[in-house]
Amino acid sequence: MKIGIIGCGHMGGAIAKALLLEAKNSITVGAPRAPHLSVSASQKKRLSWLTDNREVARKAEVVIIAVKPNLAEEVLRELAPELKKQLVISVAAGLTLASMVKWSGGYKRIVRTIPNLPAQVLEGLTVWKAAAGVTQADKKKTAAVLASFGGEIEVKRERMIDWAVVSGSSPAFVAAFMESLARVAVKGGFSQKQARQLALQSVFGATCYIAKTGVDFGELKKAVQTKGGATEAAFKVLNDKKWQQALESGLIAAKNRCQQMGK
Ligand SMILES: NC(=O)c1ccc[n+]([C@@H]2O[C@H](COP(=O)([O-])OP(=O)(O)OC[C@H]3O[C@@H](n4cnc5c(N)ncnc54)[C@H](OP(=O)(O)O)[C@@H]3O)[C@@H](O)[C@H]2O)c1
Repeated sequence: MKIGIIGCGHMGGAIAKALLLEAKNSITVGAPRAPHLSVSASQKKRLSWLTDNREVARKAEVVIIAVKPNLAEEVLRELAPELKKQLVISVAAGLTLASMVKWSGGYKRIVRTIPNLPAQVLEGLTVWKAAAGVTQADKKKTAAVLASFGGEIEVKRERMIDWAVVSGSSPAFVAAFMESLARVAVKGGFSQKQARQLALQSVFGATCYIAKTGVDFGELKKAVQTKGGATEAAFKVLNDKKWQQALESGLIAAKNRCQQMGK
């Protein structure tokens, strides 16, 4: 695929690196400054850079918009005259399809996505919604592009994108959980390095176990709580503090904030 990426910072750069892993992809970046991506010599041959975003769009079959949300309107208005057959995929947070279609002069082959931070290590989860003009072939392309940096879920209602905070905000919650595991480990005499390893491997190991066995979350939670055992004692304290309700309320507050910010 000939892919244009407008904006090559954290997210645009991560997407470029992921897409370059596939030998059939060639990428032109549209950015004010040359991107510095650590890629192999052979991948570099399939990567070019232009300061003219319109030229990038003219050359591409897929155009990825990866500028900050406050610059997306300016960029889409700039690209509008060049949009004829390209599939446009935006990763800009909070921008509705209606706004993007309007800024693109009524162009409707646009996909709104919300990737999360682990996309940068090819373990992201991107939720997406297509505008009315997106074809079945475009949808296949979208899924292929997004799958290059992790999982993808297409949603039927655009409002559902706001609920993707469940994956978008989750790295922060998981980090907070790991921070607590590590703090307690340090109290018990582990070094900072050991405590980090303990927290990382606990979360990674549990995730792999759940994914590989297919065990239900609730079942595993019960199975580990042996009657009279240590985990049960922990849950007694946690449940008294209504920790899961607190977490779920926090996620809903994040979703509400996404809805307020959307335009
Ligand atoms: N970072 C994440 O984990 C994450 C997660 C989900 C969604 N997103 C979305 O991804 C988008 C990019 O975020 P980011 O964190 O990657 O931001 P970023 O690191 O600031 O990258 C944005 C890039 O766009 C470039 N740029 C500015 N104006 C431009 C223009 N007119 N044409 C082309 N390029 C231009 C900037 O170049 P200069 O620095 O030279 O100005 C910068 O390299 C945002 O809309 C954000 O909502 C990010």
